[in-house]
Amino acid sequence: MYENILKKYPPEKENLIYILHEIQDTHPQNYIPEDAVREVGEFLKIAPNHIYGVLTFYSMFSTKPRGKNVIRFCQSPPCFLKGSDKIVAKLREMLGIKLGETTKDGLFTLEVCECLGVCGNAPVMMINEDIYGDLNEDKIVKIIEDYKGGLK
Ligand code: FES
Repeated sequence: MYENILKKYPPEKENLIYILHEIQDTHPQNYIPEDAVREVGEFLKIAPNHIYGVLTFYSMFSTKPRGKNVIRFCQSPPCFLKGSDKIVAKLREMLGIKLGETTKDGLFTLEVCECLGVCGNAPVMMINEDIYGDLNEDKIVKIIEDYKGGLK
């Protein structure tokens, strides 16, 4: 089922992270299912337990289905001091979900993460691969509306 991805890589263990990223990024529910772990393990000759260890170590990977757009909000001190908690509360209210949950329409999953490396623009969030900084409540309303309207 994942042969189209696997065939792009030599069967070497150091390709594990790249393969997992590609599987997650191309999965419509933004996660790495059990059958993918099995197939990748057979391909690279790595035990599934080891792959699950990698998946839990890196917070960007998920073994549970997620929304089309994964919002990852930075909770590290510089963002926190600039009011990230208020903005997360606003996001939760707008989307009607708690942290770690996915909206019923499957459009958004809300997660928190550690520093995204752009503290000068705190508070910061990432949606899929895009970073948004200097956030305030008005700005996130506009961003979420753009995603809902298919403008992003
Ligand atoms: S602390 Fe939030 S981006 Fe660095």
